Amino acid sequence: MGTPTCILPASSPLWPVMGNDRPVTTAVCPGSYDPVTNGHLDVFARAAATFERVIVAVLVNQSKRSLFTVAERAAMVAQVCRPYPNVEVDTFEGLLVDYCRTRGVRTIVKGLRAVTDFDYELQMAQMNSRLAEVETFFVATSPQFSFLSSSIVKEAATLGADVSGLVPDSVLTHLRARVRGG
Ligand code: PNS
Repeated sequence: MGTPTCILPASSPLWPVMGNDRPVTTAVCPGSYDPVTNGHLDVFARAAATFERVIVAVLVNQSKRSLFTVAERAAMVAQVCRPYPNVEVDTFEGLLVDYCRTRGVRTIVKGLRAVTDFDYELQMAQMNSRLAEVETFFVATSPQFSFLSSSIVKEAATLGADVSGLVPDSVLTHLRARVRGG
């Protein structure tokens, strides 16, 4: 009896192997990270505990006006990821699946905060799977971060709210300076 078509065949290129035939478990955590929040960091840490190598890929977003440049966003991510030796930071432009292909990675990890994330994330995951043989794994965000987004942090900080505890301390310093016009 042949392998049912719904089950990934052993011959699929979805099984990336190293020299010793052990699967390479590298995951990409893509995002704008404008700026990185404690919710993102929670997802990176959990991905780092699960995968051998994690690449946090910061989007060079042309259309979206960001508070921080891509170099600033990547530097902040690199600083907060320093405790995790298997996490590296990179930037990418264009299609995520093209970036994954370039890096030889077939696994994307995203955080899911609430049901409101689900439709969009499912659509993205299915599109990415349609465009390339890339699998998306979702991590359920820790409940204390389920309301958190870069946008809400930026809005609150811009309007003078104290956002300490919502972003890493090093990011807080940059955020306070930027919303003051620095
Ligand atoms: O932090 P964000 O802005 O929610 O992250 C969104 C991101 C970067 C994951 C997404 O916009 C993305 O993958 N952009 C690259 C373009 C792409 O591949 N789009 C999906 C298929 S059309």
